[in-house]
Amino acid sequence: RRTIFSGIQPTGVPHIGNHLGALSQWQSLVKEAAQQPAESRDSLFFSVVGLHALTVPQDPARLRAERRDMFAVLLALGLDDAKGGAVIFHQDQVPEHAELAWYLNTVTPVNRLMRMTSWKSKLATLRNANSEDEIDDSMLQLGLLAYPVLQAADILLYKTSHVPVGHDQAQHLELARDTAQIFNRAYPGRRKDGKGKGKGVFRIPDVMLTTHPRIQSLRNPLEKMSKSAPHPSSKIFLTDSPSDIHAKIKSAVTDSIQGVTWDPETRPGVAALLQIFSGYSGEEVQSIARRFEGTRGIMEMKESLAEVVESGLRSFRGEFERIRKETGYLEEREREGARRAREAAQATMKEVRAAVGTD
Ligand code: TYM
Repeated sequence: RRTIFSGIQPTGVPHIGNHLGALSQWQSLVKEAAQQPAESRDSLFFSVVGLHALTVPQDPARLRAERRDMFAVLLALGLDDAKGGAVIFHQDQVPEHAELAWYLNTVTPVNRLMRMTSWKSKLATLRNANSEDEIDDSMLQLGLLAYPVLQAADILLYKTSHVPVGHDQAQHLELARDTAQIFNRAYPGRRKDGKGKGKGVFRIPDVMLTTHPRIQSLRNPLEKMSKSAPHPSSKIFLTDSPSDIHAKIKSAVTDSIQGVTWDPETRPGVAALLQIFSGYSGEEVQSIARRFEGTRGIMEMKESLAEVVESGLRSFRGEFERIRKETGYLEEREREGARRAREAAQATMKEVRAAVGTD
């Protein structure tokens, strides 16, 4: 029986990269689970990971609002319907995440964390910002280095078998798998019958990479569409109005060649748009490209793309606006989610403490 876990940071309303890269897959998994017989149904956990958001400076009032909005987003996407739905919860309301992260910190080699691309790119950014090549040490917090360990804790805490994520998370998932193995070997525990060593507490999680390719920035098709990128027109938010969607797609960076062709190497801007098109229409990129071969192709393709994205987000937008106003309902769902997640988390921590000797 599968246990599926994934998380998203509460850093503003998600963009279509998060949607195609992760959230749409979560929606399919919930639909799939609803079809399964109760006794073999997947267990699904989707978490708003507030503790991860703290690895960059946060304003408390803004964080509070964004955590709440992200929770409303997950409800508006229909992820927790009664039948076969997922446990939707705030990671920061289940203290076992931080507790397990500490246990995992004690077996994680620091040099392994220093090799993570997320850490290295942070270093590179700071170096570039400082012409003397010297980095202000106060900018490099331990929490940022340990970020992937907390992520491993999120996953392992539920004895997760599958983690649906976008391609940018592959390296973090590799670390989570290795950490599970290292910990199981270090603390095998006892067999249930008390005769000899156990096999360790954790399941080794498999990554379920999304079938959608990485979605690129509308301003610079060589970069991924990113929540942290400053330019709002580099991304389409799930809550953007139809006129915002049309305007952002119209101004998306392409090239000066006429007509649409599928050529990701030499035409990354056009390819990025085709990928979004394909993500929302389900059509193959090549066949979309063929429909817009003519001289006015790019403009026509952009117009159709805006329609396709707009209609793909329409029902979500209404649902989100409705749910986010229902504070009482949201609070009740938050409490219920945390209660259900915590039940599973406490059971695992009990085993961890027994294996380690802190019980
Ligand atoms: P986060 O919040 O950055 O992103 C959430 C999900 O969206 C995917 N994604 C994308 N996919 C395609 N194209 C893009 N441009 C794009 N941008 C983001 C990400 O791959 C991710 O699946 N570290 C994680 C959060 C996390 C987590 C976890 C995930 C914490 N604990 C445990 C899985 C399991 C993160 O920052 O995701």
